[in-house]
Amino acid sequence: MRIKSINNCKQLKGKRVLLRVDFNVPLKNGRVVDDYRIVSGLGTIKYLLGKGAKVIIAAHLGEPKNGYEETFSLKPVAAYLQKLLKTKIRFISEIDSKKITKILDSAPDGEIIFLENLRFNKGELSDDDIFAKQLASFSDLYVNDAFSVCHRKQASVSAIKKYLPSYAGLLLTEEVKALAKVLKPKKPLVVIIGGAKISTKAPLISKLYSEASEILIGGALANNFWKFQNINIGKSLYDKGSEIDIKKFFKRGKLAPKIFLPIDVVVETKDGRAVCKKPMDVLSSDTIYDIGPETISLYASFIKKAKTLVWNGPMGKFEENSFKHGTLNIASLVASRSRGLAYGLIGGGETVNALKITKMEEYVDWVSTAGGAMLTFLGGEKMPGLDKIIY
Ligand code: 3PG
Repeated sequence: MRIKSINNCKQLKGKRVLLRVDFNVPLKNGRVVDDYRIVSGLGTIKYLLGKGAKVIIAAHLGEPKNGYEETFSLKPVAAYLQKLLKTKIRFISEIDSKKITKILDSAPDGEIIFLENLRFNKGELSDDDIFAKQLASFSDLYVNDAFSVCHRKQASVSAIKKYLPSYAGLLLTEEVKALAKVLKPKKPLVVIIGGAKISTKAPLISKLYSEASEILIGGALANNFWKFQNINIGKSLYDKGSEIDIKKFFKRGKLAPKIFLPIDVVVETKDGRAVCKKPMDVLSSDTIYDIGPETISLYASFIKKAKTLVWNGPMGKFEENSFKHGTLNIASLVASRSRGLAYGLIGGGETVNALKITKMEEYVDWVSTAGGAMLTFLGGEKMPGLDKIIY
């Protein structure tokens, strides 16, 4: 399927537009603590309002399993958006097609309504046609601006397209353009992968391997490689069952030449000290929490030569002072090499948080709103919510 970007749609005045956004943002005591996704989604909302559409915002928050739960309510997010837009937003707690149709019929052009967390409805998670039809019943057209959920087969990004004329939002379009640049990169391409969950990152490593000059591994991801080689990782985190993913990167016991593991690490010892050591010297009582200074300088030597840089996943437990240096140094290195010297792409919630600590977000060419979806896209896997976009 192919869909057009919304700026190709000529008739928006008075149209009821179901706009799927990803406002899955962290909340603390009912307050939005990071608005990056909301601010990134403003462009499409303002565009639709400017064209005189009636906008029905549809989103999810977290992973509620059994219907309504207050902690997963989108009410605080709707209130936050209302403040940003300085426009009244009507919050709809329950998806009742008749009621919503009535509201929209009498609403002036430019009205915004905001639906409660879609995942309170079982049909959303199961990509249910009946639920998708219900969403379609009060809308004239559908705009998907939620790139970061497009890897999910869920009704509001997948089944819905069967029932409404569909368009790509401005953010989704920009995300896809930005990520696609990495698939045809200016070389050298250097890929930095950290965090955990090798199963979500192995496809990306495989897919980018031939184009990349170096793939730099950090964070808990590295532990899986050592574990596979029977190197002691002490009490460090690793993915049980990761051998299936890891063994593809070894040939006759040797790690693929473009993949680099940390040459030193910072561990927490059994008496709570942060100590730098070689991976071979890690004790059973140690926990690896960061890459060490020699690794930072080795990785820096590659980053400084790159023409394209992709980074997803922290290098360690950067929330703690003793273990923040690997991640924050990589963040500064990637940011300073970006904008002009290299095309820099960063994604993933924790990775973006680390970048924000350096206050260098502005230097990076594209800071994705996506985590898992970015990995899926770059890994070349199927994304049920994403179609080829006609710009
Ligand atoms: C995300 O936070 O990556 C997206 O909002 C998708 O959320 P999910 O992983 O709960 O589907």
